[in-house]
Amino acid sequence: MTEVAITSNPQKGFQHSVIRAHDPDTNQIIGRLTYHSNLITNIRVLPESRRQGIASLLVDEAEDQIAANGHDEVILFAVSGPPQRFWTTQGYTLIEGAGVTGIPIVLNSTTFDYNMRKGI
Ligand SMILES: CC(C)(COP(=O)(O)OP(=O)(O)OC[C@H]1O[C@@H](n2cnc3c(N)ncnc32)[C@H](O)[C@@H]1OP(=O)(O)O)[C@@H](O)C(=O)NCCC(=O)NCCS
Repeated sequence: MTEVAITSNPQKGFQHSVIRAHDPDTNQIIGRLTYHSNLITNIRVLPESRRQGIASLLVDEAEDQIAANGHDEVILFAVSGPPQRFWTTQGYTLIEGAGVTGIPIVLNSTTFDYNMRKGI
């Protein structure tokens, strides 16, 4: 695969900003990150496109946009296991105390108990 194209629609208001990675050959969307203010709310890469650095590209772009909006920190919730390992490779560290409230958040049997941050 040649270079992945990144497109985005930065939003300043209530709406989430979306950053997309496109397959350069087909223009198909192969990865997508959403954020609001300095909170990354979701990231997903198609299973067949994983482990090629695409999520890393999306995170780099999100951090650039969030910094350009005047923030010096990015925060997120990471599911334990591989996703949390991914965020660690991007320089994110666990915030002491589980979740925003100190209480692990459990949704559909998944525990979102890692609140992570990175200074940018
Ligand atoms: C997590 C996710 C976004 C990573 O996307 P990706 O494009 O494969 O990530 P990258 O290729 O940029 O990975 C960078 C590094 O993160 C680490 N990493 C990524 N996926 C990993 C996994 N499944 N297990 C262990 N480490 C992983 C590796 O160190 C990797 O570098 P390497 O491939 O050279 O070893 C992708 O697996 C995904 O969409 N998962 C389902 C949705 C999800 O869990 N989202 C996160 C919610 S918090």
